[in-house]
Amino acid sequence: MPTALVTGVSRGLGAHLCRALKASGYRVLGVGLSGAAGHDALDDYRPVDLREPVPADLFAAEDVDVLVNNAGVYLDDPRRGYGDLFALSHDDLRDTFEVNLFGAARLVLRYAPLMRARGAGRIVCVSSGMGRLQDADGASFAYRSSKLAANSLVLAVARHFAAAPGDLSAFSYCPGWIRTGMGTPSAPHEPAPAAADLVRLLGAPAGGSNGRFFRGLRELGWDTRGPWVGDGPAPPEAPLSRVDPPT
Ligand SMILES: NC(=O)c1ccc[n+]([C@@H]2O[C@H](COP(=O)([O-])OP(=O)(O)OC[C@H]3O[C@@H](n4cnc5c(N)ncnc54)[C@H](OP(=O)(O)O)[C@@H]3O)[C@@H](O)[C@H]2O)c1
Repeated sequence: MPTALVTGVSRGLGAHLCRALKASGYRVLGVGLSGAAGHDALDDYRPVDLREPVPADLFAAEDVDVLVNNAGVYLDDPRRGYGDLFALSHDDLRDTFEVNLFGAARLVLRYAPLMRARGAGRIVCVSSGMGRLQDADGASFAYRSSKLAANSLVLAVARHFAAAPGDLSAFSYCPGWIRTGMGTPSAPHEPAPAAADLVRLLGAPAGGSNGRFFRGLRELGWDTRGPWVGDGPAPPEAPLSRVDPPT
């Protein structure tokens, strides 16, 4: 049974990811800010603040086959009346990077070398279309730039994975604009299908996902939209949203 470690699991996309992974036969480990995960799709849960160094004994006895960096914050969200570049506080810029980049990077730097040594593994960063330079605008600089940096981290790991023998893949995944605490109730999409699509990508051959950036089962691409990678005809493009603005 493969083991998946997911961050940010008590709510939102993370909770759905745990359920989808569990239903697909994974042993599921979770971390998050909350004292308890609050659902039963986890085999083990540890409260971890990703703004802090990862505890050395975190799941030390586990072989992690899949790392899903899902936890994220969107502190400079204009929908909450605070997002303009010149209003951004240093604390919010730092906290955004602590969670969205440094927290993810600490786990990547722990698990990617172990996966490479074993010759198998998957690393995914749940990113956003807002992390593409072509989508930049005058707001949400902290969120956008943290996701851009996380995408860069994925590409760097993917280069290492591509050069090593085995079944290794690192990729970025945008869930689209989904109804979660971050996405708000106005979002057009439910999180469960986005979670199911990500689990499906995790099960695909490494060569089909390593170094790529997906939104759902469609390759979003780092710069331009790419081809549909699911079975059957491609569905219509998802509606563009305020979270993931027009490209
Ligand atoms: N929602 C969207 O429309 C949308 C669009 C594009 C990309 N995304 C990305 O999708 C991912 C999941 O977002 P979501 O919509 O599910 O957001 P959410 O409902 O706000 O959930 C965020 C999760 O991150 C965890 N988290 C936040 N700060 C943390 C910290 N310091 N340490 C550990 N965990 C922390 C939270 O843990 P606790 O529950 O324990 O507090 C929570 O589980 C994020 O990376 C986000 O950027 C979302």
